[in-house]
Amino acid sequence: MELNEFVHQLDELEKQAVGELSGIQDATALEEIRIKYLGAKSGQFKNVQKSMGALAATDRPAGGKRFNEVKNAIQAAFDEAQNRASQQATKSTGPLADPTLPGARIRLGHVHPITQTIEHLKEIMGRLGFSVTEGPEVEDPWHNFVALNIPDDHPARDPLDNFYLKTAEKNSGATRLLRSQTSTVQIRVMESRQPPVRIISLGRVYRPDEADATHFPMFHQMEGLWVDRGVTMAQLKSVLRLFATSYLGGDVNIRFRPSFFPFTEPSVEVDFWWSGRWIEFGGAGMVDPNVLNAVGYDPEVYTGFAFGLGVERLCMRRHQVTDIRDLYRNDVRFLRQF
Ligand code: DAH
Repeated sequence: MELNEFVHQLDELEKQAVGELSGIQDATALEEIRIKYLGAKSGQFKNVQKSMGALAATDRPAGGKRFNEVKNAIQAAFDEAQNRASQQATKSTGPLADPTLPGARIRLGHVHPITQTIEHLKEIMGRLGFSVTEGPEVEDPWHNFVALNIPDDHPARDPLDNFYLKTAEKNSGATRLLRSQTSTVQIRVMESRQPPVRIISLGRVYRPDEADATHFPMFHQMEGLWVDRGVTMAQLKSVLRLFATSYLGGDVNIRFRPSFFPFTEPSVEVDFWWSGRWIEFGGAGMVDPNVLNAVGYDPEVYTGFAFGLGVERLCMRRHQVTDIRDLYRNDVRFLRQF
């Protein structure tokens, strides 16, 4: 290709492009022109650039120089048009924002009220010297019943009161269930270490209850266990009173009512005096010698107390929640309050 012809092509291109760009006012039209002339694949400028290869070697420096001039001129015209277009946009919509308005508030997620309660309970019991342990939610009958002195024919084992897992039964012939109480963790801890043991365990438990304002098929318990030489019921009462005072505030009264649990003897139900009435928060008692025997502790040497409190119940009382289902509906309008 002749140099003349090449330069002529460039001149035409410059004239045409700069001409078109000079009239541009808005961003959409500008983008169309950008693609037409400066598009990386088939923009007209690209096409001219390709034909530079057809110039004689001696003509190339001169051709290249002109090429760059035109390219810069088109780019400058483009930049100018872009400025015009953005000024136009500002003019037609007014200023983008009023800087004196208060900022939009960023919504942060919340820790679920039950998780908050669990953290709080751990902290209180930690101050009383209890360390935190965990156990599995899928359990075997030994930990959920047998070692806890719950005999074979005990109604607590009824399939109507437990979630037995059919798949486990089918696959391995082993009976497994979702734990119905956190007392299972007492056994696991005592099996794995020697006294003194002073632990709490917080977690989910499962029972096939119809959901209503006070029942839910999954809920949480806080289990406590203290085994050592000479642990007494008086200590149980002190620990629970200190706990209740810390969690519910003020000077909470505490009451034990005689009761029965297979794994404690004597057994009591635990009530706290709260807003003018007694409310039951759980059960407790002195660890039954049969349980100590089951884990290989000598009941002649060691005694202990245990307790199990309902976490939802504590959380609901403290925050005046009246329906347990609200905790698990995951309605953010409810959860946001915590
Ligand atoms: N496991 C009992 C329940 O789920 C609660 C309980 C009662 C736990 C007495 C204890 C205890 O550790 O000593 O109803």
